[in-house]
Amino acid sequence: MRPVAANRGGSRGLRFGSSAIPFFDDPLVPFFTYQWSGDALVLDAPFLETLERIEARYPDRRSAMLPALYLLQERDGYITPEGMQALAAHFDISPMAVYEVASFYTLFHFSPPGRHQIQVCRTLPCALRGAGEVVTHICNRLDIDVGERTSDGTFSLQTVECLGSCDTAPMMQVNDLYYDNLTRAEIDAILDELRDQEASHTKRPGPDGY
Ligand code: FES
Repeated sequence: MRPVAANRGGSRGLRFGSSAIPFFDDPLVPFFTYQWSGDALVLDAPFLETLERIEARYPDRRSAMLPALYLLQERDGYITPEGMQALAAHFDISPMAVYEVASFYTLFHFSPPGRHQIQVCRTLPCALRGAGEVVTHICNRLDIDVGERTSDGTFSLQTVECLGSCDTAPMMQVNDLYYDNLTRAEIDAILDELRDQEASHTKRPGPDGY
């Protein structure tokens, strides 16, 4: 077990309509049917001030889409339909164009994640080295499926494409740290340690108050 800083940003590998990835299906339904009221407060003054500073670094301000999405997620905890609609209006592009960017990256979430976001790589090198067993073990330990969050909001589980640590497969990312060469015992130790940390520190509430 060797936790290392994550490089943040594997590609997501979308499969629309697949019940195998409920995480990506259900939370997006509101986005496609959502009618934005045009509430300007979605991008309030402090947000716009920060965003405009970032935009000034680029020849085309639309190139600030990724940091804008990251800002939104930092503020709201996850990417909301309202946020995507508001960014679309701000950049004068279609909401679908915003969604296309946001949905490509696993660092963006469309529903409230757990305080500890577990992302298990499922791409071929990790798959050949037991990624499936890693996922099954975590699901059993936490009593959740992929795409779900524990009832206390502590953990959420997601499978992702290559995180760039193939030589140490199987591996997973928890928040900003990589854990590699995983075994069941090491997964148990990691989850126990995170639970212990929760118990010994004041909990930081998640985006929806958990
Ligand atoms: S295949 Fe898993 S990190 Fe590359």
